[in-house]
Amino acid sequence: MEGEKGKKRGGFTNRKDSPSKSIKVRVVSDTASNDLPPAPASKVNECFAFKKGNCERGAACRFAHIASSVGGGDVKPTAPVSKPVNECFAFKKGNCERGAACRFAHVSTNDFDMQVVNEMKEPLQKLGVAVPPPPPTTSTFGDKASYITTVRFSDMPTICPESKRSLAEVMKYEYMTKVQVASLPEILTGRDCLVKAKTGTGKTLSFLIGSIEHIKKSGGLRGSTGGNQITSLIISPTRELASQIAAEAKSLLTYHPGARVEFITGGTNINTDKKHLEGAITFLVATPGRLLDLLNNHPGFSARIGGIKVLIFDEADQLLDMGFKPDIDRILAFVPSKDKRLTLCFSATVPEMTKTLATGAMNKGYSYVDTVGEDTEQTHMHVHQELIVCPEASFITALYTLLKKQMSVPEYKIIVFFSTARVCGFMSDFFNSTGMKVLEIHSRMSQSARTRTSDLFRDGSKLILFSSDVSARGMDYANVTHVIQCGLTDREQYIHRLGRTARAGKEGSGTLLLYTYERIAMLKDLKDIRLTEVTLDSINIGQYAPVVNSCISKVGDNRELLTSANQAYQAHMGFYNSNLRKLNINKAELVQMSNQFAVTIGCREQPKLLAKTVGKMGLKGTPGLLIDRETQVHGGGGRGGGGGKKG
Ligand SMILES: Nc1ncnc2c1ncn2[C@@H]1O[C@H](COP(=O)(O)OP(=O)(O)OP(=O)(O)O)[C@@H](O)[C@H]1O
Ligand SMILES: [Mg+2]
Repeated sequence: MEGEKGKKRGGFTNRKDSPSKSIKVRVVSDTASNDLPPAPASKVNECFAFKKGNCERGAACRFAHIASSVGGGDVKPTAPVSKPVNECFAFKKGNCERGAACRFAHVSTNDFDMQVVNEMKEPLQKLGVAVPPPPPTTSTFGDKASYITTVRFSDMPTICPESKRSLAEVMKYEYMTKVQVASLPEILTGRDCLVKAKTGTGKTLSFLIGSIEHIKKSGGLRGSTGGNQITSLIISPTRELASQIAAEAKSLLTYHPGARVEFITGGTNINTDKKHLEGAITFLVATPGRLLDLLNNHPGFSARIGGIKVLIFDEADQLLDMGFKPDIDRILAFVPSKDKRLTLCFSATVPEMTKTLATGAMNKGYSYVDTVGEDTEQTHMHVHQELIVCPEASFITALYTLLKKQMSVPEYKIIVFFSTARVCGFMSDFFNSTGMKVLEIHSRMSQSARTRTSDLFRDGSKLILFSSDVSARGMDYANVTHVIQCGLTDREQYIHRLGRTARAGKEGSGTLLLYTYERIAMLKDLKDIRLTEVTLDSINIGQYAPVVNSCISKVGDNRELLTSANQAYQAHMGFYNSNLRKLNINKAELVQMSNQFAVTIGCREQPKLLAKTVGKMGLKGTPGLLIDRETQVHGGGGRGGGGGKKG
């Protein structure tokens, strides 16, 4: 990762655009937000551009042009309403767990001290920087340019000379991005911040630069006690992201004497970690599991964490959500209390629920810096996104065809996301068996293999990476040309996965490939995302069907591939078992679908499942399953009730 130093990263140095008009900074004084109530669920996809009065597609627009909508069912054009109809009482009491999905209105009743900053002016004036004139209007960057500003790092009096030198000489960045301009003054007020900005727009540098200045103000980068103090802690949901953040922090600290960055993640020798952790550390980047392990078992280490000045959650919504929340709560017990630390939460997506959960980690009166807005396009407008829906039998051929098409792009670099590690593993094995070379990364691999793949993909081109969601968030692989998402996911994850392409002003596109039975649920979830649906015929899958089908027919002859297919079958069932309600299917239908999946991936016989696994999945007695009564140890899909493990 040190090799990143000195490289010119990102693609938008020197690009200019007028200051944004959509940044919002709110000072949140209680658990609730004062957003308008979420629009009730509708059966049609509403056009947001029309809503804002600027849809240029007119009658050709595939989204509904609705003046305003109320009510829980059919959408009827009505006059705009100023008051919501049914108020959510759980929200009023601060504990609505349904978040944005809640069908009742979330109405804030507290007296917010809310500021809405419509121009870049206000944050800049706070920093004593004159607002630069708008750039020439000849920009052809469209939406890409909407997150780079005309503000130079070198013009910022609040950024220290050491950071400025690294930014200019090591990172080679001249202009600040929108989120960097918007969040820096807020961080410097010393108030906790929850920051939302689109993927690939420089959130990492935002929290790193802000933290450095905050730490310098309060005792210096080596910490007031020197010795072995850990000054700031950054928590990342994945190992690769932790390592990437550490690399960026190292670059930024190049000219800061005595400053030091370390990262600790699972999958490595904990004793080696202990050695790395000796001495003062400016930024410690950690994944929750390994951090807790050290906190619980090494009192010396926990004492040092007890002295941090800044706590940062990157991908805050994921960390504060159900999966990580128990770990985060335990970690919070070791860090200084809220009033004795600065807490920063960053993400490209901030569901309503996160704002509520964030109050557990942040001080009352935290700032909510939103550079996206609630009702604007959540993905980059210049990223063309297609949807392809296909029957199970055509899924692999459709994917093969899409990849062939994308491989015609010069210097192609493609990421394909799968819902579970085991399915990802099988697909990778299978595609390699067809002669198409693909890399794989997921939680079922050793950390050294993951790191090798990640480095290869970062540094190379003409590559395809098959990944589980371990690469979905934060990963900054340069020049990814296309992202393919296979199967069901949720809105937030869709946005983050797509965000692996078109970063820092670059071009990119995405395809969502769904099974027929996933279409309705996914489109409901993605109703504010601009997807163009294309047919299987239009991508001409027939041309590759013979080669793909021939390879599928050989899976049964290859022991390794067959084992991998059997594991994928179990994982597939586990994953969809936890999405029954979303797909509106029952257990018998789930088993039927999974058995069909097994056929499409080349299993000649239906894979058997251990009775224990069936029990864990709550599928005992469901018709259509084959129970393995002989095998004691089965190479199945693992944890989480029988193989639905996502990572
Ligand atoms: N001011 C800048 N000028 C040019 N490039 C920049 C600037 N700030 C950051 N970058 C680069 O832009 C790329 C994306 O940044 P970063 O990974 O921080 O995005 P992010 O907003 O955190 O995205 P994600 O939501 O996916 O985590 C990185 O390569 C980063 O080094
Ligand atoms: Mg990031």
